[in-house]
Amino acid sequence: MAMEAQARKRSFTEILKSLLMPHFSEREEILKILNENYSKEIAIAKLMEEYSEIIPFDFLREKLKKVASEERGHAEKLKQKIIELGGSVNPLPKIFDVRMETIHDQRGFRRLVAVLEFDKEIYEGYISQINKLEDDKVKNLLREIVEDEERHKDILMDVVMKLC
Ligand SMILES: [Fe+2]
Repeated sequence: MAMEAQARKRSFTEILKSLLMPHFSEREEILKILNENYSKEIAIAKLMEEYSEIIPFDFLREKLKKVASEERGHAEKLKQKIIELGGSVNPLPKIFDVRMETIHDQRGFRRLVAVLEFDKEIYEGYISQINKLEDDKVKNLLREIVEDEERHKDILMDVVMKLC
């Protein structure tokens, strides 16, 4: 019953979309979402790399650097998918410059907390996209990334606990 209601709601949304935004196809929506994800992954990787430089313990610094390099790996996977779908990578630096500036304004440990908040927001974005999108291949890619993000959350929490 719940699934029927969900399907009805979805088809109603599709009708509305085709009436109001006839050129806004699912493919375009996917490309826009993938591009936003790409920009966020690059932004958070940079923040983590920068923060890792001020961590005074080698083993914790390496942990954070490893997470950052995996975030760059996510960006790369997203880029491949964008190209595969016939789109082009179009980062949104302006939006994330502002976001990154506010994170940079935070001093010391607070900055790491701000990075963690951004990381959580990215994770939640993936979960809602998986629920919303219909393309199975894209959903599988996002699920793959989410598995890493879940592991990252534990690593980041461990880094935070050891630093405070
Ligand atoms: Fe990521």
